[in-house]
Order: sequence, then structure tokens, then C-alpha cells
Amino acid sequence: MGSQDIPLSKPDLSPLETELVLEVMRNERLAMGPMTEEFESLVARYVGARHAVAVNSGTSGLFCVLKALGIGPGDEVITTPFSFIASTNVILHVGATPVFVDIEPVSLNMDPGLIERAITERTRAILAVETFGNPTHMDLYAEIARRHGLAMVEDCCEALGGACGGKKAGTFGSAGVFGFYPNKQVATGEGGMIVTDDDEIANTCRSLRNQGRGADAAGKQAWLRHERLGYNFRISELQAAVGVGQMRRIDELIERRRRVATAYINRLSGMSEFVLPTVDPETEMSWFVFVPRLGVAFSREERDELINGLRIHDIGAADYFPCIHEMPFIRALFGSSPPSFPIAESISGRTVALPFHGGITDKEVELVAQTLEVLLGRQEFGRR
Ligand SMILES: Cc1ncc(COP(=O)(O)O)c(C=O)c1O
Repeated sequence: MGSQDIPLSKPDLSPLETELVLEVMRNERLAMGPMTEEFESLVARYVGARHAVAVNSGTSGLFCVLKALGIGPGDEVITTPFSFIASTNVILHVGATPVFVDIEPVSLNMDPGLIERAITERTRAILAVETFGNPTHMDLYAEIARRHGLAMVEDCCEALGGACGGKKAGTFGSAGVFGFYPNKQVATGEGGMIVTDDDEIANTCRSLRNQGRGADAAGKQAWLRHERLGYNFRISELQAAVGVGQMRRIDELIERRRRVATAYINRLSGMSEFVLPTVDPETEMSWFVFVPRLGVAFSREERDELINGLRIHDIGAADYFPCIHEMPFIRALFGSSPPSFPIAESISGRTVALPFHGGITDKEVELVAQTLEVLLGRQEFGRR
């Protein structure tokens, strides 16, 4: 999003979403109504989960799941250092300790071969992230979690619609959480969705999102009975209406993004400076962003220059993602011995997120590619 000619991202909205928002306005029910219920059942049905609980962000959804699992001070949670900060923040929010595991360089997800070494007697969960919408290894993490009696939480905020071995993102662990920020495959402005097959997790999350309210005999929440310390993590009916419209169009939304990713891969495959995203044949990627990376000969400074060059040409670009363990406030948690994750660090210094959303045209892909060619040709990139 931004003011560039070709923005980094953009929501893929249609008249259907507008009509559904107007329906809410006409009905004058603005919170906790039928749109929220429909949004929940559409997502539950789509991923094949028994429960879906809509919340006001992916972050609050992940927080609720960790709380519902009883994770807190003294507990360790294994996670990736190569992600958007929220996946680690939620571990800190519940008072637990994040334990990072390096990634493998193809899927960019945690290296399954390194996880067991990170397990201690304090480990309670694996919080796995489907980086850029790629669910590869989710089955392996689930198996490791099962073997060691740990919970697995899927941060699938970037992966709605993805699958691994035919199983949909969100269904591998105790619970999964999707996010609906405007750059996501399904966008509601702000919003999130917890999916789970576990009745207890679902009920606790419903209570946590709604001020700790309990349920009456009919299973509905009693308005002024508060059974636990809760929060206001509710989504509004207006946002849920956008979500209902987006979920009715989900196959189209994902297909449009896949088409753009394929167009980029075809156009950039001749540019030897780039390592392009590759997807395991068992994996169905749900493209959240399109992030090629420069080859190992390139420095972080050269990558940053390239991103600035694109922006100067009115083309959105970003360094998805700076490593979480290198953020000063996270580094400070480790005192005088900050950890190092060489693969995450090396890749993070070379990534270039390009403009990506379902409406990008072949002409725009061509313009981005030609601009990259000019910028790479003009400078002594990678040859210093
Ligand atoms: C991997 C990951 N986790 C968590 C989040 C947080 O989602 P939200 O911005 O809806 O709180 C995001 C979204 O941006 C994300 O990409």
C-alpha cells in the first residue's frame, strides 16, 4: 500500500463486499451479529476445521490461542526468527520465552532437522509460521510436537488457502490463526480468525475475545457473566461483511495471485542475479507476497540500494523480513550472548519483495522487470 504507481500491495475488493457492508449499515447491527457468524462458518468450512473464532487481528488470535493452551511465564516456545514480528511478540505477551530455530533456504520455514535440538524440559509449544504463504514442513512440525507432547500452533496469518500434502493450512496443530490485514489474500482491514478442532480451545478463545464472558445453558455467552480475565478482541460486523464477501470469492482471489506469481517467475527466470521462490511439489502455495532474493554475491547494502531504486521509480518494494532476533528489543533479551541464525540472516539481507496483489497486470510485471534490469545493470551490484 502506498502512493506509488505500482504499489507493493493492494486489497482485491469487488462490489460484493460493498453490498455486504451496506447490508450491515441498513440492518444497524454493528457487532457480534450474523456477518461474524457467517464469516466464521465460511472459514471453518473452507479449511475443514470444526471451529472458527473471528477476532480483531491475527496478533490477538495468536495471543488467545497461547493463553488458551495455558502457556505463560517459565515456558519456552520454539519459533522462527524469519517472520513478521507478531509471531514472536505474542510469545512475549503471554510471558513465555521464544526459542529461535534457523530456517531452511527453500521454503524459508524452520528447518525441521533443528527443532528437536531446541527442545528442553521447559518447551511447551512449537509456534510455526507459514512464511510468505508456504505450508511446507507443517506436517513434520506436527509430528515432532506429537512425539514430544508439545502443542503446535500454526501462525498461518500469511497462508489462507495453502496446503501441504493435501491438508489445508491452519489444520496441522492444536489451532491455526489467519490474519486479514489489507495486504493479505483475504482482507478485512483489520481482523483475524482462529481455527481449531478442539472444543476447549475454541470456547476459551471465544471467552477471551469477549471480556472473559462465559456461556449460558444454551451455549450462548451471558452478557454480564465474566469467568476469566478477558479482552476486547471482537471484530465488527462491517469488517466481517468484507470478510464474507472475500471468502465467497476465495478461489478467485487465490487464483489471481497465483497467476501474478507465475508471470513474475516466467519473466524473472532469465535474470541470474535472482534466486526465485520455489515450491515443493507436495505443497500448494497460497501466494501472500512475491519475494525473490539476490544471489549470495550481493551485500545487504546493495539490496537496500535496489529497493530504494525501485521506490524512486514509483515501484513498491520491501525488505521482507528483517530477522526478529536482530531487533534491538529482542536482542536485549539475550544479554551478552545474542544468538545467531546464519541462514535466516544471510537470506534476510538479500530479499526484495516486489509489488504483489491479484490485480497486477502482465504490463506491470514487465515494467518491474525492466526497472530491475536497469537498476542492476547501472550499478556494480554483486561485483565489488
Ligand atoms: C506471520 C504473521 N504473523 C502475525 C501477523 C499479525 O497479524 P495482524 O497484523 O492481523 O495482527 C502477521 C501479519 O501481518 C504475519 O504476517
